[in-house]
Amino acid sequence: MNNMTRKMWAIFGGALALYVVIVLLIAVIPAIVESRIPPGPGVVPLTPLQEEGRQVFASNGCDYCHTQQVRPIPADKVFGRPSAPGDFAYQTPELLGSERTGPDLTNVGQAKPSDVWQYIHLYDPRAVVPESIMPNFKFLFRVVDQLPAGETAVPVPAAFAPKTGHVIPTQKAKALVAYLLSLKQATIPGYVPPAAATPAAAPAAAAGAAPAAAGGYAYDAGKGKSLFEANCSACHQSTGEGVPGAFPPLKGNAAVDNADPTLHLHTILHGASGVTIGGVKYTSVMPPFAGTLSDDDIANIANYERSSWGNHAKPVTADDVKALRASGK
Ligand code: HEC
Ligand code: HEC
Repeated sequence: MNNMTRKMWAIFGGALALYVVIVLLIAVIPAIVESRIPPGPGVVPLTPLQEEGRQVFASNGCDYCHTQQVRPIPADKVFGRPSAPGDFAYQTPELLGSERTGPDLTNVGQAKPSDVWQYIHLYDPRAVVPESIMPNFKFLFRVVDQLPAGETAVPVPAAFAPKTGHVIPTQKAKALVAYLLSLKQATIPGYVPPAAATPAAAPAAAAGAAPAAAGGYAYDAGKGKSLFEANCSACHQSTGEGVPGAFPPLKGNAAVDNADPTLHLHTILHGASGVTIGGVKYTSVMPPFAGTLSDDDIANIANYERSSWGNHAKPVTADDVKALRASGK
């Protein structure tokens, strides 16, 4: 070996060694450490169907527009508690995402627990969220003239449905929705959100001071409307008319337009499923809001609903919500 070859080998060997060290440091060792992070309390493995749905999620690029990581900053509080390493124990490689063209999906199984909503939204997002810019995923559905035995048609609103036939989800859509509904943050025992990020305590007896809304309702109408748009209108629609066969109208609803607010407030606190309303049995699921909305927020939303779309029921106070919440019913 002459001098020249020895030098070349030294350069090559040095570069290779450096490369191996870097790969170990930034890829191999972190992967080994990560694979040993135990699942957080309550974090469970995906079922085979949910796992299949995760593949559909990845192969359709859902993570180009949706993150699955809640950062420990106030702006992320709407999506849940900050993500913890144990949350991802059964989800490797993680679909963290880096763009939020649409909302974070870490907790979407909690926020939109209704498979019917998920199907309609995937079939055409505009059918439930008029201003949505999410692409449709109609190719995950089939349109059939005859409903096959055991299949349920997706109740797509008429303006968005095909002229004839029934819309039914393909296996891929079923798997994807099973995966989306599995996305729920497990509670970490003893975790207390940082004080600065907790919503301000409900101002006691704000009723007298609050701006009066149309019809003499003393409540914060602006807040009620914006909270309704953020939490409820995706299903019940801004018009309060709901989606026929999927989500009941709140306009003229017997629980809402009623002097006794118990059923109205109970439904908002604890959610509902399988209830018959106005002669229609709803199989879809309404999420509970006891864990995410304050008494004041719920009173504002309830009063917005009680005084909109022609409803004219007696207003409620944050204390009514508080009392019902405390009753544990
Ligand atoms: C081009 C960007 C984009 C892509 C790709 C995309 N979305 Fe979305 N998504 C959005 C936007 C914007 C919204 C908010 C408006 C709405 O609800 O439709 C949204 C909303 C959602 C919501 C409702 C979240 C909530 O909290 O209300 C779900 C669920 C969802 N998307 C699932 C998916 C799935 C599953 C895929 C892949 C099959 C996907 N998205 C692909 C942009 C996108
Ligand atoms: C994911 C869809 C969804 C969201 C979001 C949602 N709901 Fe519902 N809601 C439903 C469904 C479905 C029903 C019918 C009950 C059932 O599932 O049997 C319902 C029923 C109701 C009822 C009628 C109860 C009765 O017995 O007549 C009220 C009132 C109501 N929702 C208020 C709200 C409010 C207020 C919000 C927001 C804070 C909200 N909903 C958010 C799906 C939803």
